[in-house]
Amino acid sequence: MKNPYSEIAPRLPEGERLDPRSLLGASGPIELEIGPGRGGFLFERLATDPALCMIGLEIRLKWASLVDKRLREQGLGERARVFAEDARRAVTRFTDASITAVHLNFPDPWWKKRHEKRIVLGDGLLGEIVRVLVPGGAMFIQTDVAERADMYEALFKARLEFSFSGPTPRIEHNPFGARSPREHRAIADGLPIHRLRYERR
Ligand SMILES: C[S@@+](CC[C@H](N)C(=O)[O-])C[C@H]1O[C@@H](n2cnc3c(N)ncnc32)[C@H](O)[C@@H]1O
Repeated sequence: MKNPYSEIAPRLPEGERLDPRSLLGASGPIELEIGPGRGGFLFERLATDPALCMIGLEIRLKWASLVDKRLREQGLGERARVFAEDARRAVTRFTDASITAVHLNFPDPWWKKRHEKRIVLGDGLLGEIVRVLVPGGAMFIQTDVAERADMYEALFKARLEFSFSGPTPRIEHNPFGARSPREHRAIADGLPIHRLRYERR
């Protein structure tokens, strides 16, 4: 059966390199959210600063379509878009130093060995994030799965391009003034949230 959203889901334009600015009408700094799901973080983040722009890359056609439509309906279509894309492929197309922050909220909720191929943040995507982040740009990851936080931290350890401001990259509070749907739920359920914040050197 065909996915009913396959015809209408917003996709990135065809081609090779892509300047993220060309995807938006507004001209402010652009932050990227990988896997925004239902999009709550995008909306809350846009509300923190009227100059801020956001791009979401969401592999699920339905959520990319619905959130992109909601952005337009709320008059935010010039400042933000969500595209139905696999971030592992899409970020490779973005131009160098074009993104001021990358947010990865509660990714990779799979446990089974056979699902490992779905993991979004591996060395490949991280290398591309290094390339697209501006110097001083932020990389923010949060998860309610302790093993995943350890896995991401180990991945970043091998990367000299990132620094962190405290004694470790772990931070207690979300400093971005916006919470993802899963973050709201984890807080309501009293689950611990593991947060990592890095800065592109
Ligand atoms: C557990 S959900 C979290 C959703 C949202 N970030 C939140 O915190 O509420 C993970 C999201 O990442 C998306 N996702 C998984 N792999 C992806 C990929 N390779 N590229 C883009 N999005 C992906 C999923 O479709 C899903 O919406």
